[in-house]
This record gives sequence, C-alpha cells and structure tokens, in this order.
Amino acid sequence: MAITFLMDGKEITAEDGQTLLDAARENGIHIPTICFHEATTANALCRICVVEVEGMRLLQPACIVKAAANQKVQTRSERVVRARKTILEMLASTMDLSDAPEILTMMDEYSADASRFPDTQRRESEVKDDNPMYVRDYSKCLLCWRCVQVCAEDAQYTFAINFDGRGYETQIGTFFERTIPETTCVLCGQCVGVCPTGALKPKREFLLEQGMTPDQISVLNTGRKKRK
Ligand code: SF4
Ligand code: FES
Repeated sequence: MAITFLMDGKEITAEDGQTLLDAARENGIHIPTICFHEATTANALCRICVVEVEGMRLLQPACIVKAAANQKVQTRSERVVRARKTILEMLASTMDLSDAPEILTMMDEYSADASRFPDTQRRESEVKDDNPMYVRDYSKCLLCWRCVQVCAEDAQYTFAINFDGRGYETQIGTFFERTIPETTCVLCGQCVGVCPTGALKPKREFLLEQGMTPDQISVLNTGRKKRK
C-alpha cells in the first residue's frame, strides 16, 4: 500500500513499511549514512542519518525508522545538522579517520571540528598482521558492526569475529583474541569489502603503503606458497 508524507516540504509517496532512508533516496533527497550498508541488517549504531520527525521528541535514525502516512520530516534542519556535526566530531576525537575519505568529506560538509573534544580517550591498537589476506587496525574502527554481520547471518555464516569488551573497551575481535588462522575465518574478504574506515585492509594495499614494491610482494607471496 502506498502512503504519502512530507519530507523537506516535498510530498513523497512511499510503500508502507519502507524506511525514511529508502524513501528519501528514491526521491533524490540525500541523507548521509555510515553504519548502514545495503548488504547488512540496519542496526542504527552511528546515528549520522538522524532526521527530525514532527511530533517526536528525539531525532530519528532514518535507516531503520519507517515512513508513516501524513508525517512531516526534516532531513536537514538546524537541529539535525548540529547533531550530525557533533557525531562527526566525537568520531574524530576517538578514532583514526585517516583512511575514511567519505567520513572526512562529511566532516568538511558539516564544518566539524576534529579537535573539539581533546580530552576524549582515543581507540588505540597495533596493526594485527596475522594472515595472508588482510590486516586489522582497530584504531580505525568505529564499531559499525558491518564486518561482524557479513561474517555471520547476513552473508557468510562463519562467525569468526564478534564484539568483545564493554564501554570504551568495546572492540571487534576473535574469540580469546586468537589469530585469524586459528579461527573459523575462510578469508572470504567480505568483511574487508564492507569496512568503511580502512580498519580492515587488503594485505597487498597495506604492504604497498609500507613502502614495499609489487615485486617484493610477489616474492613474499611466492615464498609463502612454497612453504605450504
Ligand atoms: S572493522 Fe570496519 S567494518 Fe568492522 S566494525 Fe570496525 S569499522 Fe566497522
Ligand atoms: S546510518 Fe543510520 S544509524 Fe548509522
């Protein structure tokens, strides 16, 4: 059943049950997203997609909230813009965004000040380089959960990684911090493909960034195959 409602003053027609994000996209209205990915179940973890819905006290995450008939939605009100700016500033103060160009572009767009929360505890982690396919740098992880979801019910059903810890100590990891080869991981690469921040990176890309030449990487890979 089709419903109609107002988004930014424009009359929108959407299917009953459709999210505000889907309805906005179908009608050419841009709402930014970070944790949302078409291939994974939306969990509304980052809140960058919040919008203002008339009659609702709190801003609503457009990636999970359903459109309703006759509602009035503002996707870029002053309150929405302020909330998004603050979310970006908090992200920038807690993690390394250097490999997240889409988020850095959002920071520019919202004039977010990366130094606004200077005393915030930053996520620190050493690069974990324990398998031939990819490296993990959780200082760049924003806990969007995409990698965990594609490793589990949303795609691969491998369950090699999950959340670990609480509060500031929360991180993505393997059970008992095992190395990747010690887990059920089949090196399918889907987690790397959905990571929005470079926290998961193909090994080759990492080695090139470290200054290795393609020839040196080939020699490394050949040696690894011979050892098998
Ligand atoms: S490693 Fe990447 S995909 Fe996984 S939770 Fe962190 S940012 Fe998201
Ligand atoms: S994109 Fe909607 S909460 Fe992250």
